[in-house]
Amino acid sequence: MQQIKAGVVGYPVIQSLSPLIHGHWIAQYGLSGSYEHIEIIPDQFDRVIGHIIDENEYDGFNITAPYKQSIMTFCDVLEDTAKDIGAVNTVIINNGHVTGRNTDAFGFIANLKMQQPALELKGSKALILGAGGAARAVIYGLRDEGVSDIYITNRTSSKAAELATDFQNDSCNCHVVPWEERASFSATHGIDIALTVNTTSLGMLGKSPLEFDVGKLPDDSYVYDIVYAPLHTQILNDAVARDLKIVTGLGMLLHQARPAFEAWFGIMPDLDDALINKITKAAQ
Ligand code: ATR
Repeated sequence: MQQIKAGVVGYPVIQSLSPLIHGHWIAQYGLSGSYEHIEIIPDQFDRVIGHIIDENEYDGFNITAPYKQSIMTFCDVLEDTAKDIGAVNTVIINNGHVTGRNTDAFGFIANLKMQQPALELKGSKALILGAGGAARAVIYGLRDEGVSDIYITNRTSSKAAELATDFQNDSCNCHVVPWEERASFSATHGIDIALTVNTTSLGMLGKSPLEFDVGKLPDDSYVYDIVYAPLHTQILNDAVARDLKIVTGLGMLLHQARPAFEAWFGIMPDLDDALINKITKAAQ
């Protein structure tokens, strides 16, 4: 049986749950292979990653912070999703040929559809909190699903404006909302926001809380937090208390791993309860 070798590159990377996820699938499908943490310190990134690619030992790897952009110059081909998002989270190596892919938008949308299949995205309006790398993948995914208006709000408003320009097209209008008006603007302007997504790091264990008053959102709207530690963040608890529907973030991590696993191991894996429980426990 062919021995497949993959891993996750980052710094620091020991906290990454990806080896647990891919290891679960390798065992579940009785495959021969490995998936490991690959820590590279920043001033050695170019040398080490170049060496890893030249050695032809790996079939590919995931890339996490802070290297999702730096890896792009090492790719012979960048898939459209990676180009538009401006980041690569998955690398596939075939006989020395390096392909850069981004599966974060897929993970974001697949998790949304799994948890809230009734939400109709086509023609809807969404509010995005944050304008970093994660926001780019989220906006890409929502635009691809036919969301007609995306309202972006960020502490640093120039970054929100940059994203609005990058993702605006004929079928999707992107708008910038002042950070101070993030909770009130939909009610003030009568904008029917169907989905609010937190893509900032606020609310994460050890980080400052996200201040957002869900009381002003439309009664039938949904709230999605991509933060998964804790799984039930304050904004999600507030949304539940208001009877709004919610989407928790851990599924995005699990779903983004599926197409990467398929690229290396040839099987699109399912999410079973054993994996969801294992990763939920590990993330807390
Ligand atoms: P990621 O790739 O996870 O998106 P990032 O690119 O560093 O990480 O983006 C982090 C996001 O969280 C940004 O939108 C950031 O806002 P700024 O662009 O103003 O930095 C947001 N964020 C982080 N700390 C914040 C804070 N204390 N208040 C408001 N927003 C914050």
